[in-house]
Amino acid sequence: MKASIVLSTLATLAAPVVAINSSTYIYAQNGANITVSLTAAADTNDLYFRISAPGAYDWVSVGVGASMKGAFTLIAYPNKKGNAMTLSPRQATGNSEPTYNKNIDCKLVGDSNPNSPGDNIDMSIICRNAAQYSSPSLDLSSKEAPFMWALGRTTFKNGTNANDSPSADLRSHSAHATFTIDMTQATVPSNSNDTIPTLGSEVSGASSHSNVETTRDYLSPGHAIATIVALIVLIPLDSMMRMCIKTVKFHIFMYILITILFIVGSALGFAVSSQFNRSKKYNSAHQVLGIIIFFAFFAQIPMGYFSYRRVKAQWIAEQDTQPIVSSEPELPARPRKRDPVKLTHMLIGVFIVLLAVVNGPLGFNLSLTSAYNMYWVVLSVGVFAVLVIASGLRWMLKTRRKDAAQDLEDDDKRKEVIEAYQLQAMRARDQQHQNQDPAPEYYAGGQYPTINVPRSY
Ligand code: HEM
Ligand code: HEM
Repeated sequence: MKASIVLSTLATLAAPVVAINSSTYIYAQNGANITVSLTAAADTNDLYFRISAPGAYDWVSVGVGASMKGAFTLIAYPNKKGNAMTLSPRQATGNSEPTYNKNIDCKLVGDSNPNSPGDNIDMSIICRNAAQYSSPSLDLSSKEAPFMWALGRTTFKNGTNANDSPSADLRSHSAHATFTIDMTQATVPSNSNDTIPTLGSEVSGASSHSNVETTRDYLSPGHAIATIVALIVLIPLDSMMRMCIKTVKFHIFMYILITILFIVGSALGFAVSSQFNRSKKYNSAHQVLGIIIFFAFFAQIPMGYFSYRRVKAQWIAEQDTQPIVSSEPELPARPRKRDPVKLTHMLIGVFIVLLAVVNGPLGFNLSLTSAYNMYWVVLSVGVFAVLVIASGLRWMLKTRRKDAAQDLEDDDKRKEVIEAYQLQAMRARDQQHQNQDPAPEYYAGGQYPTINVPRSY
């Protein structure tokens, strides 16, 4: 087994260095140099690529097709050891991550060492019967057959998403381009020796221009910023502000803002989900939790409204029972029992913020940017500290209010006791007037009614 591997490796390394018909495309601008030399064998439909591409990106790719829809792409990224490239032949169905097809027989031959970032990677690739994998398939008689290339992103912290698996998850590209190749020049009747073309040094049998587009990913960061600001910044801020700004209108204004941001953020989350194989099925922990948060958030709106209605109705009822004209001094309201709807509304709010704090790092893991999680720790600890301080302040204020209410309740009791005492005293006086002599029994011994008068009375 080992001997056969050695032999086949030697055979490929010793692939004939004879010149073979090929076409060469070169893009050399903005510090990037991408060279593609291609030979096609008419008898087998095999494709022989010699590619040189920058090594500073997560991945590099050359594809057959005019657009992503129906394209056959060869994607390469460094392996985990960093001493060779992993080749992944994939097919794309649209503007989303192409899917690995294990039935496509493509292999890297010779050395494909990913050099240090900044340097170019040199790859020799043989793909058997590969003209058929794009839709429409590659026409070997076309003078302007459509091709494309794309470069992945430069991952945060200058690392790469190195992987040994050909079906590894990918981030989107930072640049892509289309070009054409004259297949009549690149095609040979047969290439039974599997000769790889040499890397051309000038454009030959290919378009000299390319439609290059550099792309920035707005969906994913937009989704992250909108959901985080709505759930983890504005909700706690609203609950803090309500301690100072008591109007319901302010709370409603904040919730309209939070709702709009959350809807936009979630819509971007759903849109970005369709771009990657890892998120197309909506079965990642991040998406499932995100959807739970989504439903919990929208359940809050009717609950908040009912709670507001109930408080308002209670307030109106209290107003109605107040005498319109009263000579009595107004007695203070006793502290109300906590409304269950309001309590549930508040608890779900806290629950949503906590789930969102957990969901952030899951999002960064899903988008292959887990390095951002170190900032997340700072953000969530900060938000947690603010919440604890705010709840502490709230509790203190409430306790003070409760104490005040208790004092007022004591005052009520005192009033009742005084009134009872005065009434008894009056009755006693009346009795005394009526009977004159003898004096009532309880006065005889100097005994006054025992009335439990609280505190200082
Ligand atoms: C994770 C993988 C990928 C994702 C999510 C993705 C996504 C997209 C999206 C959204 C567009 C349209 C917007 C834009 O111009 O940026 C696009 C365009 C394009 N992509 Fe990709 N792509 C991926 C991989 C690739 C690969 C491997 C190639 C191969 C060379 C490629 C080549 C192109 C080209 C040539 C276009 C412009 C033509 C077109 O609209 O189809 N992409 N891609
Ligand atoms: C509700 C709270 C949510 C929070 C706080 C949240 C947060 C995040 C964060 C921080 C990222 C990383 C973004 C980046 O690296 O650029 C992310 C990625 C992602 N989120 Fe969410 N998200 C939430 C809900 C959702 C929902 C409801 C969905 C869709 C069902 C979703 C789908 C995604 C997807 C697919 C990615 C990966 C994008 C990529 O690979 O570039 N998220 N999210």
